[in-house]
Amino acid sequence: MNTVITGLQWGDEGKGKIVDYLTESADVVIRGQGGNNAGHTVIANGTKYVLHLLPSGILWDDKINVIGNGVVVDPIGLCIEIDRIEAQGVKISPEKLLISDRAHVVLPFHKELDAAREIALGDQKIGTTKRGIGPTYADKVNRCGLRMADLLDRPFAEALITRRTSEVNEILSKYDLPTFTAAAVIADTYIAFERLRPYITNTIPVLHKAWKAKKNLLFEGAQGTLLDIDFGTYPFVTSSNTTAGGSTTGTGLPPTAIESVIGVCKAYTTRVGSGPFPTCDEGLSEYLHNLGREFGATTGRPRGCGWLDSVLLRFACMVNGVTGLAVTNVDGLDEYDHLKICVAYDIDGIRHELPPADRNFWNRAKPIYETLPGWKQDTTKCLSYSELPKDAQAYLARLSELCDAPIAFVGVGPDRKQTLRL
Ligand code: IMP
Repeated sequence: MNTVITGLQWGDEGKGKIVDYLTESADVVIRGQGGNNAGHTVIANGTKYVLHLLPSGILWDDKINVIGNGVVVDPIGLCIEIDRIEAQGVKISPEKLLISDRAHVVLPFHKELDAAREIALGDQKIGTTKRGIGPTYADKVNRCGLRMADLLDRPFAEALITRRTSEVNEILSKYDLPTFTAAAVIADTYIAFERLRPYITNTIPVLHKAWKAKKNLLFEGAQGTLLDIDFGTYPFVTSSNTTAGGSTTGTGLPPTAIESVIGVCKAYTTRVGSGPFPTCDEGLSEYLHNLGREFGATTGRPRGCGWLDSVLLRFACMVNGVTGLAVTNVDGLDEYDHLKICVAYDIDGIRHELPPADRNFWNRAKPIYETLPGWKQDTTKCLSYSELPKDAQAYLARLSELCDAPIAFVGVGPDRKQTLRL
């Protein structure tokens, strides 16, 4: 079964854990978008791994992991990540990890350019991860980006980097940010590139061969639907298609290769960075932070927390074509008396069951809530759906009904065995 795993909220839904769970039956795990802005935390055999660019299948010995053409790869960051994961005892080899030669390269100045754009936006800043993701995708779309394959042609790559460095320096100096010498950018990039060279290949025929051979393909989405460049809360979004469609444009596998779409959401809602968040709730944020939960894996920033928002989830299930929901962090709500679910927005007296496109509407969107009883029981030791407290089952059933998608998985803790399959 070829499966896409996609986030249904603003990222951090616990996709890494579901991917890790499904990887057991997968042959190939593929990333098709985003970059090292992602932070997937996976706990396997009691060890915690934080993955940014590496697909989660890297933690297994017998899986092929592909970083597809739609990903933006920071070669320096990737080398650091490989070192860190290898130091945790995971072996990484070119048989196990393949990087698309069409993937665009994040250069050191892209990160500073990211910072410059944030400064320019002032209090309207996006709150990016400052990994250079937006500027790298912007160069790709502006047709002045550098791809992995270009690095094989050193004179061409050097000329391109030199030209872009001087253009970027002009912008950086306006904001008193450090500028770059082209020689340093070239040298640093090539040190990392030489190390990654054995992994770089044309991944498309490899993926098609695996598809034709009926291997199980797992597409690992990064970020979430509300951060999608088209469907998210624009402009407070990332710069790629985080939704299921990004799995095909970002890998070279066609839509007909996808057989199921697992949409991952938390039992509540979280968001890092700026932008609209109608169900944000201070009390719930404080409660979860006090439990030591909801701090970003990439930046360590505390995440804003709020009630489950079924307006956003309903939309996310539509645009992704979700065939099964994976609801994670159910245990986070174990102690709460009453739980709220947002079923619609009231915007200027009109009921909205889908999110508006008009950015000005967000400030005026008032959640319409339904209140359900909490279950007030520890769910972390439940081994099956039927062992969950009746009120937890009722909460999940209501979520499923509101989104018009069946529940496929429930997460009650970080460990592999705390993922319950229905
Ligand atoms: P960028 O992707 O670094 O450009 O950041 C754009 C927005 O996406 C910001 O609000 C980030 O906080 C958010 N973002 C990017 N990656 C992730 C992620 O993996 N989890 C949660 N939020 C993310």
